[in-house]
Amino acid sequence: MVRYTNKVVHLQDNELAILTRDGFSISTAQAKPIQRSMEIVEWRVEDADLDGFPHYMLKEIFEQPETIRNAIRGRLLMGEGVPKLGGIMPVWDRLKECHHMVLVACGTSYYAAYVGRYVFEKLTEIDVEVELASEFRYRKLNFPPNTFVIALSQSGETADTLAAIREAKRKGASLLGIVNVVGSSISRETEAGVYNHAGPEIGVASTKTFTSQLTILTLLALLLGRHQKLSLTEGMEVIKALQALPEQVQSILAQAHHIEAVAEKYYKCNNWLFLGRKYNFPIALEGALKLKEISYIHAEGYAAGEMKHGPIALINPGMPTVAIVPRDEMYEKMISNIQEIKSRRGPVIAIANEGDDKVRELVDDVIEIPSTLDFLIPILAVVPCQLLAYYCATLLNRDIDKPRNLAKSVTVE
Ligand code: M6R
Repeated sequence: MVRYTNKVVHLQDNELAILTRDGFSISTAQAKPIQRSMEIVEWRVEDADLDGFPHYMLKEIFEQPETIRNAIRGRLLMGEGVPKLGGIMPVWDRLKECHHMVLVACGTSYYAAYVGRYVFEKLTEIDVEVELASEFRYRKLNFPPNTFVIALSQSGETADTLAAIREAKRKGASLLGIVNVVGSSISRETEAGVYNHAGPEIGVASTKTFTSQLTILTLLALLLGRHQKLSLTEGMEVIKALQALPEQVQSILAQAHHIEAVAEKYYKCNNWLFLGRKYNFPIALEGALKLKEISYIHAEGYAAGEMKHGPIALINPGMPTVAIVPRDEMYEKMISNIQEIKSRRGPVIAIANEGDDKVRELVDDVIEIPSTLDFLIPILAVVPCQLLAYYCATLLNRDIDKPRNLAKSVTVE
């Protein structure tokens, strides 16, 4: 739409608009007139162009250094070791006293929420639950006083996520949104929130909004953590690491040709396994989702510790495993998972830190990522997964930006 106009008027449910050459009028279904002002959408026409890329998905993967920069731009106060999030100020007095939070979302946004729970546990003293929005209504969740429910959604229109926040409101929770589309239903129905400012995401497979969601969740956790247990030095360390992310993502993108070569080796395999632990367990889930949704290859994401409880039975020379094995506190455990796979002659593609010779000797292929704080690794580790999925799907001649049976916004429950 930005090709034609950047002026938007939002309609609520049960409202009617009459548009003429000279203007517009809005009324309720019962013909009661409504005054509504116009808003300006900040997206540009160039944001919705392919800009020389063969697909929107690839363009959006390559935009990530910029979209991460946009997520932190103007939001970091280095001297105070604390972020500044204007959008949550209306609820700040309540939020800073909050000890219970529920993160709700669907699909890729849910996996971002899943990483978010680990990050909140690391940086704050808040009890955090994470719920699939589509299951939220079936749970009998206990909302202690001053519970915040945070909805994560790229589109801001996902029906299940909307239904979940309506249910949470009914139960007395305060609502926050982490949303990309300004003025969308979720942004309107939450009390406050943080926008991604990632620009339009057109490819059906979410990529840049995922890393943007992870960045914003870290900002929020850091802000709350600094009011709880984190020192100034710790806050400054996180801010420094956040500022380094765009360059680090760029360095991963520079390996696109290598990742394409890895995809060429394995794209004919019909079953893949993705493994990670702790912060990178949700990245294993997201890596598998990316691969299946655009290439139609069957892939499973697992917490690596669960492998011996079932999926190990599948390992064979025709089934590649993508193992996320950064040099973090989970390193040795991931190494032993890889050894278990190799002893069953399963091919392993490792996403590992730069210069990790131990991993290199053990596995078939390595995609290197730079080092950062443990809880920021998901922002880097997901990028090779996105590119692997993209190149496998391209080699299989799939419809990358519009995969079969999928819609960009799922507006039915
Ligand atoms: O717009 P939302 O973030 O609420 O969408 C949620 C899911 O529908 C979405 O992430 C979906 O899983 C994507 N196709 C994943 O790439």
